Amino acid sequence: MDGPAGVGKSAVGHLIAKKLGYGFLNTGEMYRALTWKALERGFAPEDGPAVVALAQKLKWEFRTTADGRLKTYVDGEDVGAHIRDERVSANSSVVAAHAGVRRLMCRLQRRLGKDGGVVMEGRDITTHVFPDAEFKIYLDASVEERADRRYRQLRAAGKPADRQKIKEGILKRDLNDLQRKINPLSRAADAMAIDSTKLTLHQVANKILRAVKNASCA
Ligand code: DC
Repeated sequence: MDGPAGVGKSAVGHLIAKKLGYGFLNTGEMYRALTWKALERGFAPEDGPAVVALAQKLKWEFRTTADGRLKTYVDGEDVGAHIRDERVSANSSVVAAHAGVRRLMCRLQRRLGKDGGVVMEGRDITTHVFPDAEFKIYLDASVEERADRRYRQLRAAGKPADRQKIKEGILKRDLNDLQRKINPLSRAADAMAIDSTKLTLHQVANKILRAVKNASCA
């Protein structure tokens, strides 16, 4: 599954993975984990050679949780608590643009998906990492709706939120992901496209599950 920032790929992907009895991997976590480590070590996200060397030096592990997620561990540490802050979000599309970074992540992702039975989501999964995936989805939603969802999530968590700033951040990341030279975000010709602007999480998941079932019966 591919799609732009904040479209709900992770929530939808994890839900359908559970229904199918599959594992689930959010590949954005890997790019975020590297961004967090690079910032922590004082490297500029734009510094390709330094960031790629760091990525190659780190020990990457993926451990399965009780609910079927493949969680990213770097040098033995669960990255979950570090990778969602604004600084990491704002810089991850810069880190993800380096060729050596993408090569390494693609290698890890192919290893994790080689036996099938996994829902994987990101920006280049259907176009580059698994061009022969059994089923491909491109999930989209208007930028207003994506910013609104994020705004509501932050408010519900009692965190400060500025709708305009959220929207600007999403647009900037979209632009970086769409204009990237190597494997930019795009819709695979054979992907099922879903616009989730006016749909709930469960409506999107049900649409996908019906289509998956039909495809496997064909
Ligand atoms: O899905 P996300 O917003 O957590 O992803 C974080 C960043 O990683 C985002 O800027 C795009 C990048 N990314 C990518 O380039 N390729 C992927 N397969 C997944 C994420």
